[in-house]
Amino acid sequence: MNTVQVTDEVQDYLDSLLPARDPVLARMEEEAHGEGIPIVDAHEGAFLSLLVRIAGSKRLLELGTAIGYSGIWLLRATSGGTLTTFETNHERAVRARSNFAAAGLAKQALLLEEDAVQGLEKLSAKFDTCFIDLLNSFPSEDVTRKVFDLCMQRLDAGGLLIADNALRQGEVIKPKGHQARNVAFYNQLVAKDPRLESVVVPIRDGVSVARVKD
Ligand SMILES: C[S@@+](CC[C@H](N)C(=O)[O-])C[C@H]1O[C@@H](n2cnc3c(N)ncnc32)[C@H](O)[C@@H]1O
Repeated sequence: MNTVQVTDEVQDYLDSLLPARDPVLARMEEEAHGEGIPIVDAHEGAFLSLLVRIAGSKRLLELGTAIGYSGIWLLRATSGGTLTTFETNHERAVRARSNFAAAGLAKQALLLEEDAVQGLEKLSAKFDTCFIDLLNSFPSEDVTRKVFDLCMQRLDAGGLLIADNALRQGEVIKPKGHQARNVAFYNQLVAKDPRLESVVVPIRDGVSVARVKD
């Protein structure tokens, strides 16, 4: 196999090629790192940003805001687009609102402080990109399927369905706990759905990227 092993040296090299982050994102990276808040890293942020830009997405949906880090990468990749994002943790939601404002994106970000699954059921709007960043937290395969179905209903042809933690540090290969089983189940749903073209990209903890076929 010609797959490169991402040694520390290779990782340092990849890091050296990252785009510079502005003070808002740089501060958020430090805070998240220091406090153990689970956010995407800058490689994944840049990847998400490229996907949104290439697809020309304007209406974004995110499940799992945390303090708004990925949301800022996503929104900045649009020209005047909007982000609807769900977060249940009040303290994180407050910080996310403040971070969106610091990034000059307050008017474009609608943060809904409620359970993403229940919230999704109430939404009737369509989106161009849906980013699921709480795959790890679903209690069962039924809920995983429900979220997948609800997201698919909100996307038209050409829409992107993206999910983080698609590899779960490799646990998806032989899943033991229910969380890894749910993620493996999600990967199967995406891979087998004839409406989608998809790939799992091994950035960070694995990013599932799918596009609704024309
Ligand atoms: C991995 S973090 C999101 C990170 C964020 N997307 C980023 O990269 O900047 C997942 C977030 O989802 C929230 N969460 C977990 N279950 C949820 C649910 N059912 N509805 C809404 N938010 C939820 C958690 O509180 C956590 O902050």
